[in-house]
Amino acid sequence: MAKGKKSLEQQNSGKTEQFSSTGFILAAIGSSVGLGNMWKFPYVTGQNGGGAFFLLFVLCLIIVGLPVLLGELAIGRAGRGDAYTSFKKLGGSKWWGWLGFIGILAAFLIMTFYSTIAGWTLHYAVQSLSGNLFSNGDYAGQFTAFTASTSPIIWQIVVMVMTGFVIARGISSGIEKFNKIVIPGLLVILLIMLARTLTLDGAAEGVRYFLYPDFSQITFESALLALGLAFFSLSLGMGAMLTYGAYVDKNQSLPAATLAVGAGDLIYALIAGLIIFPTTFTFGIEPGSGPGLVFVALPAAFESMPYGNLFGGLFFILLAIAAVTSCLALTEVPVAYMMRRFKMSRSKATIWIMIAMYAIALPCTLSAGGVLSGYTWGGRTFFDWMDYITQNIMLPLVGLLVTILVGYVWKGSGEETGLSPTWMKWWRFSMRVVAPILILFIFLSSIGLV
Ligand code: TRP
Repeated sequence: MAKGKKSLEQQNSGKTEQFSSTGFILAAIGSSVGLGNMWKFPYVTGQNGGGAFFLLFVLCLIIVGLPVLLGELAIGRAGRGDAYTSFKKLGGSKWWGWLGFIGILAAFLIMTFYSTIAGWTLHYAVQSLSGNLFSNGDYAGQFTAFTASTSPIIWQIVVMVMTGFVIARGISSGIEKFNKIVIPGLLVILLIMLARTLTLDGAAEGVRYFLYPDFSQITFESALLALGLAFFSLSLGMGAMLTYGAYVDKNQSLPAATLAVGAGDLIYALIAGLIIFPTTFTFGIEPGSGPGLVFVALPAAFESMPYGNLFGGLFFILLAIAAVTSCLALTEVPVAYMMRRFKMSRSKATIWIMIAMYAIALPCTLSAGGVLSGYTWGGRTFFDWMDYITQNIMLPLVGLLVTILVGYVWKGSGEETGLSPTWMKWWRFSMRVVAPILILFIFLSSIGLV
């Protein structure tokens, strides 16, 4: 990463580490597709009335998510640094740097509960391959027993150690190659599953629930959730896309990358919904049953397929890998910051971050079905709070800051995006007016001020 007093122009033409064009788009899609699409999106949609929530999600993705994504990529490419550095450089003051720091904190906190779920997927991969998963058909009971046991603690440690190990060695090109196999591989498995779930008895009812919007279900709370989820699933608001943007060269079309990532993200969420909801309606699973939804519904679908344990195993392995690659990106954000800020070696920074993370990650796991689940504050467990604070408060907040930075403070933002004049007008309008007002309004209503 270029440092020092070189002008932005010089840095942009300088030959720093760079992604190839397709490599970048795949890596960005890889970062966006993960547990957010496959685990979180279906259960949050199930808890918020189905079709109406999906509609809100798509609207948030297009109206707010894509313009902010383009903004983050532009900030990264022009700023050439981590969230703190690029915000500071383009905002022109240290204060902006500290605002960018909120994004780094968000990545750190997201990792604490993301690693819990990543651990669950590893356990389910093993259970499915060994056939144990299908021994008694009571998937809800199995899930409850699993989360109440000590196994999730072990699996989370496995995830964190794997993550720490790879990060400490430096993110090699291996991860990109990994993503190139995992993301398309996951799609193939999902399409096979889709063929099965769409022919289940409850398919019509499930599809209707998922795609037919019942507008009476739309509330401010669900609009806030949809916005937060759109940010989460596009990996926005935490300096990740911004960091990726720093490795892109001038010739890469940022609008094309934005569209590709948005479309990829939406397609995975859409397919996940089309798999989950027909399954829940066929097997009598409550769609609003919460974070365990995927782990309860999908085994039922696998069981009804030929070679189900093989497909199930493959699916959970691919999902686990997709989750671990996300863990790498999430952890790299604070590690890169520590290395630069405190001039630490990579391994030292990794160890410190991992220890600090684990102090929060362990109570997350214990409160997601384990011994701490009984302790709630304001109706939320520790796990729920980490999830809520990051997704509903920090991500929209950083999103808002991005719109202000590129809309008002940093004058060269429009040129950096490479949009055509007409689109640039729309994008400016979105960054200056539409996106900040929508984010602010939903945000203020969520904390009870409107
Ligand atoms: N978008 C990822 C998902 O849908 C989760 C995520 C959020 C993420 N922020 C990230 C992944 C940053 C990598 C980097 O699962």
